[in-house]
Amino acid sequence: MDLKRLGQISDSFNLQMPKGVFLSARDEDKDNVMTIGWGSIGVMWGKPVLTVVVRYSRYTAELLKNSDVFTVSVPKAGDMKEELRICGKVSGRDMDKFEKAGLTKAQGRTVNAPVILGCETQFECKILYRQSMEPNLLDGEIDKRHYTDHDYHVFYIGEIVDCY
Ligand SMILES: Cc1cc2nc3c(=O)[nH]c(=O)nc-3n(C[C@H](O)[C@H](O)[C@H](O)COP(=O)(O)O)c2cc1C
Repeated sequence: MDLKRLGQISDSFNLQMPKGVFLSARDEDKDNVMTIGWGSIGVMWGKPVLTVVVRYSRYTAELLKNSDVFTVSVPKAGDMKEELRICGKVSGRDMDKFEKAGLTKAQGRTVNAPVILGCETQFECKILYRQSMEPNLLDGEIDKRHYTDHDYHVFYIGEIVDCY
């Protein structure tokens, strides 16, 4: 994807992101989808990248340990509210969330992970870097506000290898 198109797409991504988008991951025969509300599109190492953050406690974090790809499916603004609510509340450890939320998944076009059909934009990403948070480097206010339980995030910087 060229960087000009990245700029056009990031506007709609940033608008929807606080309301939630779908992050999907696969570890061999196990697929999962979760709602994320934090993340960013940008440029690293001269490549278009999408960065997502996943707390250690998430089932998705387990799957990503054994995978080097993920996808992000962005609903049309205001769409799929109930599906986002379910995928942001229950864990794939306990049930098949695709079924529970009535989501239809399809094979990614370029990476070996599922995408969610019916969304406006699909990002397929290859993980270039992962970084556990270093609590001692974190702003004290943010630490108190978001991490009282020490359930820190892992940052995943994924090269956008396909977008449609
Ligand atoms: C709007 C919204 C945004 C969320 N954003 C994130 C996020 O960016 N990172 C994260 O780790 N959890 C986030 N969550 C919480 C997870 O979606 C939730 O814990 C989910 O059940 C994890 O699923 P899993 O255990 O199947 O991976 C968000 C939840 C909602 C409702």
